[in-house]
Amino acid sequence: MPCIVLSHLQVKDLLEARAAGRNSARVSLDLGLTGSEVALRPEGVALPGEQLLTWQDIETIRSSETGCFVIEDSTPRKAQIFSEETNRLYSLMPTGGAPTMLISGIPMHRIKGTDPHRDTLQKIKSIAPVVGRVLDTATGLGYTAIAAAKTAGHVVTIELDPAALEIARLNPWSQALFDNPKITQIVGDSFEEIDKLGEAAFTRIIHDPPAFNLAGDLYSGEFYRQLFRVLRPGGRLFHYIGDLESKSGRVVSKGAVRRLQEAGFSRVVRRPEAFALVAYK
Ligand SMILES: C[S@@+](CC[C@H](N)C(=O)[O-])C[C@H]1O[C@@H](n2cnc3c(N)ncnc32)[C@H](O)[C@@H]1O
Repeated sequence: MPCIVLSHLQVKDLLEARAAGRNSARVSLDLGLTGSEVALRPEGVALPGEQLLTWQDIETIRSSETGCFVIEDSTPRKAQIFSEETNRLYSLMPTGGAPTMLISGIPMHRIKGTDPHRDTLQKIKSIAPVVGRVLDTATGLGYTAIAAAKTAGHVVTIELDPAALEIARLNPWSQALFDNPKITQIVGDSFEEIDKLGEAAFTRIIHDPPAFNLAGDLYSGEFYRQLFRVLRPGGRLFHYIGDLESKSGRVVSKGAVRRLQEAGFSRVVRRPEAFALVAYK
């Protein structure tokens, strides 16, 4: 049975139904992907698997604006993991649509004026058509890998921190990352793993790293030369930077454009709507 995951956005519906005196309610048990009918009892809400979530636990979930809660054995557990490997805290944060992942408090997708799902589609669109073999250098919640696998032949996706993948496992919106046979996962550092990938092996590369100050290696000339090497002639690289109009975005993109050109990319185009650069081989 898939995990039941709730945030303040879903339990609000339960509390409203209770306040209206109803004995059942329609609610999403998977962060908005689907809807389910549940029974409301004086002591709590009856959930699939003979679970009962108390009204007190529901209040706890409601009071957390940034947390998602997995329900197991009638008990809510916050979807968060501290990584011994990187000394960072990973957690799932709800939005009106697909959740994002926070790494030590920093969201890994755009959530202002958009949501992680629309953000992902924008990324994919900037290197459309996404066909052939695709390299995704930073798995995260797997949204880019999942979206690419819809049209690509195969996707290879690399994640540094197993804690990020544990969070993805809890996320209903990430399940295709684990179920889709067109996606191959590698756990490791992209900076090192890319050495093992063949020359001209990919038609498209999605490079969606954490911010420059968290993952400087992934913005280096050395790494860009490797991206160039594994990309097929005629291939395209999507490189997320952040808001190109912001002060840091201007500085980071300027350096990145220069290093991408030095690495051999024939054309590097700014895509402000996707907060990104697109480079052509
Ligand atoms: C912005 S998120 C990626 C979001 C992802 N594209 C998605 O659609 O959900 C960046 C991810 O890169 C991972 N990461 C950081 N450094 C890395 C590295 N050197 N190699 C591979 N992954 C890395 C982080 O743990 C994080 O999960």
